[in-house]
Amino acid sequence: MSGRQTDALDRLFTAYGLDVPDGPGAPIDLAGLFGRTAPVVLEIGSGMGDTTAAMASADPDRDYLAVEVHTPGIANLLDLVERHGLRNVRVAQGDALELTRRLPPGSLDAVHVFFPDPWPKSRHHKRRLIQPTHVALLRDRLASGGVLHCATDWAEYAEAMRETLDADPELVNPHGGFAPRPAHRPVTKFERRALVADRPVADLIYRRR
Ligand SMILES: C[S@@+](CC[C@H](N)C(=O)[O-])C[C@H]1O[C@@H](n2cnc3c(N)ncnc32)[C@H](O)[C@@H]1O
Repeated sequence: MSGRQTDALDRLFTAYGLDVPDGPGAPIDLAGLFGRTAPVVLEIGSGMGDTTAAMASADPDRDYLAVEVHTPGIANLLDLVERHGLRNVRVAQGDALELTRRLPPGSLDAVHVFFPDPWPKSRHHKRRLIQPTHVALLRDRLASGGVLHCATDWAEYAEAMRETLDADPELVNPHGGFAPRPAHRPVTKFERRALVADRPVADLIYRRR
């Protein structure tokens, strides 16, 4: 971590961060966490936090809960939160599925899963985030009409995501297939790298019934 990131983690985690312990635990009180009642977006695997910070900054009426396992990414997002004066971001450190289990059903306005690790080898597909039981959990935490938005530059994962999301009986796809790239999703280094390598990016945007 850079000195700046270490400093941000030390100073800001207590105010803006939360740990996600393994195993059962108390449900998370989202209104208590953000200090207000507003629609909540869950950003899974926020990486270095550039997307979360940019979207939260452009969308002050919603609260953004980022979850990430990688400490430098958490620290970088905390630094961005301070630099941009963001009041609507909280950063959870730990496993996204453990965190999601602690959220009340129907409590989320949107779930973002941008460029999840593709786990390209068949024997590793079971590690993928987008698979039927995980999708059922994420969808259960969405309010009716809430959005599950995934993006990937891995063509085979994109097809697998579409199959999985189409098969969930509680999700509807207003686009009928891959969605047009929404302007509100910022371009990150993953997307830039994919475009340079000529790997098109697929957006999948579904709504809970
Ligand atoms: C390929 S990166 C994408 C980062 C970011 N979404 C972006 O578009 O720039 C995937 C991120 O997901 C995180 N991740 C993987 N599994 C996770 C899990 N179970 N819970 C939380 N984060 C996870 C990784 O640490 C990594 O930072």
